[in-house]
Order: sequence, then structure tokens, then C-alpha cells
Amino acid sequence: MKYADRTNFMKASEIRELLKLTEDPDIISFGGGMPSPHSFPVKIVEKIAKKVLEKHGPQALQYGPTEGITPLRELLIKRMEKTRNIKCNLNQILITTGSQQVLDLFPKILINPGDYIVVECPTYVGALTAFNAYQPNYIPVQMDEDGMKTHELEEKIKTNKDKQIKFIYTIPTFQNPDGVSLSLERRKHLLEIAETYDIPILEDEAYSELIYSGKPLPAIKSFDKRDIVIYTHTFSKVLAPGFRLGWVVGNEEIIRKIAIAKQGADLCTNMFVQFIAEEYVRSGLIDKQIPKIRKMYKRKRDIMLKALEKHFPKGSSWTKPNGGMFIWVRLPEGIDTKEMFADAIKAKVAYVNGTAFCEDGSGQNTMRLNFSNTDDNRIEEGIKRLAKLIKERL
Ligand SMILES: Cc1ncc(COP(=O)(O)O)c(C=O)c1O
Repeated sequence: MKYADRTNFMKASEIRELLKLTEDPDIISFGGGMPSPHSFPVKIVEKIAKKVLEKHGPQALQYGPTEGITPLRELLIKRMEKTRNIKCNLNQILITTGSQQVLDLFPKILINPGDYIVVECPTYVGALTAFNAYQPNYIPVQMDEDGMKTHELEEKIKTNKDKQIKFIYTIPTFQNPDGVSLSLERRKHLLEIAETYDIPILEDEAYSELIYSGKPLPAIKSFDKRDIVIYTHTFSKVLAPGFRLGWVVGNEEIIRKIAIAKQGADLCTNMFVQFIAEEYVRSGLIDKQIPKIRKMYKRKRDIMLKALEKHFPKGSSWTKPNGGMFIWVRLPEGIDTKEMFADAIKAKVAYVNGTAFCEDGSGQNTMRLNFSNTDDNRIEEGIKRLAKLIKERL
């Protein structure tokens, strides 16, 4: 088979490969990025699905508009204004097959081979997987406890002035993988940079509803007067990732281009699932479910933070996220988490090595720990196993 050149850039996600090793139920896995199955409103979905079939049966089983069904888009417009102070009209929102589809369609309409994308370092590996197919170059920008270092970003933009920097990808709220949030000051600075250098921002807020402590920070999109921010969100963390339902907000021209690209990808998003989500939001069930999810994940986060404090060796540090699903751990220099992984599997514990999220291959001594998908009573045991492994290497 003579494959297209672009396949040379398409790397298998390290995480998906690693996860195959963690199917053994004795392994305590902090590796995947999955919501807890206990967060899924199974009974509610059962009731809603029945109602949808009774009310909208044939329509829910038919093809639908590429932009998504109007009632769901209208509800999301109202909800985003209420919860995130984001204002848009019907021509500025499109329903997608997961927010992952936005991470594919957005570069599809913007990136020529060799163009540049700014990414946080570390960043969501699924975004890199999607972007890679369009053969971009990257400008990685380091993170600290206040999110992307925007001064570093500006310097890098200045030194790459002659390059086609097509967009800046950021996960400002409870970032995947490192859990931290971009500070208010930096949110403003980031937007200012985007405006000054005329580079759009792709703002991915997949985790913003999962807040457990601290004050909520505004979406960058909420103070985007020049419509330079493209905003994406998802039902995956507050309803069910298996539904594959997300959405994107942006100026009308971009949404139109994305709609055309989406026509080529899948014609429309699953109609049945859109009707279910519409009922879930309209009936207010979403607002009853989210506090339950927050309570469950807050508890898990606290158990993990306490266990890290108790068991991890001196010289290690980790983020203390106010929300989301992840803690990012930095181990003493010299420990290579990728190399340690095979021993971790033998010790029946799993994580994802930090280099998987770093486009430039940095982060050898870092790892991502997921706390949402492990039973409360196994979290401390998993951390203990990891700590033992690390101590053996010191
Ligand atoms: C930061 C981020 N963005 C987007 C996605 C894609 O999510 P989905 O396609 O389920 O909406 C994920 C999934 O974990 C994620 O972590």
C-alpha cells in the first residue's frame, strides 16, 4: 500500500497504546483520562431515551442538519451565557461529534503543511494526534502553576514573526494533563497577544464544569470583543463520553467553514443523542447531576492529594488542581517515568509518562495521574505502590 505522506506524521497516541496494558483488573490505573462510570446518569438516560423516541422518533433516527438541531443549540446558547458569560447567536454555534472533532476540523480548515500551531507544554495528547495529520510545526510554551507562560509565548511569537502561526491552542481551565488553570491576568494577556499579532485562539474548556474549590475563572471567550476566540466544550464530562457530543462557538465565517468540513467528515452529529442531550439540559437534570459529579471527584482528588503527601518521597512535587480530573507529578531529576512504566505494570499500578504530552519530548521525570476513574478505596494503595517504586530508584 502506498500511504499518503501525511500518515508519516500520524503517530499512535502513546496513551491508547499504554492503556491496552492496563486491562488487568488487579492493576490500579491512574492512566486513562476517563470519567467514573458512577458519574453516568444511566437511569435518567433510559427515561429520556424512551421519551425522545415517543416524541421525536422518526426525526431522531433520521439524518439532520450539519450544524446540529436548533433546540439544542438554543439551549446551549442560553446555558453558556448563564454559566460562562459567553454570548453568541445560532449562526455561531455548531454541534460536533465530541469536542475531539473540533480539534480535527479546526486545523483542517487552517493548516497547510509546515504552518505553526502554538501549544501548551504539556498539552492534551489527543489534540496533538488530531493536529499532526495536517503536518504542522509546533511552538510549545511552558506552563507553571498559573498556566501557559504568556510572556514566553509573546517572545516566541516575536522570534517566529516570519512564520505562519495559524492558531494558539489552550485548555485554560483545569488543564489536561496538568490540572492547573490559566490565571485571570494571563487570560487577558493571552487575548491581548492574540489581538496584537492577529492569531486566533482555540479555547478548549472540556473540564470547566468540574470545579471543586477556588473561585471560577472566566472563559477567555467571555471577553473576546474581536471574535478572535474559537471556543469548544463537550458533554463528555457531564453526561457521557460515549455519546460523542460536543460543540464549537466562533464567528459566523469560521462556523460556516467548519460546517463544510464536517459535511465531508460525518454529515451530521448523531441525532438521537442530540435529542437526549436537549432533554437533559432543558429539564434541568444536568444541573442536578453536575453537583453530584463534583462531589464525587472532589473526594477522589482529596484522597489522592493526601496519599501523595503521605507516601511520595521528598523532592517530588505535584499540582493541586481546583477542578478537572488530573494531577501532574514532577519526580526528582534522573527518574525516567517512561522507562519506569514496565516496572509499574509489574507492581500493578499505571500512570501516563509526561513525555507523552510534551510535543518537544521534555518532561522525562513527570507523570499524569487521573483521579476520577479509580474507586476511592484503591487510590491510596495505588499511590503507595507508585511511591515504593520511585523510592527504589532514588
Ligand atoms: C482537553 C480535552 N479536550 C478535548 C477532549 C475530547 O473530548 P470529547 O471528544 O469526548 O468531547 C478531551 C478528552 O479527554 C480533553 O481532555
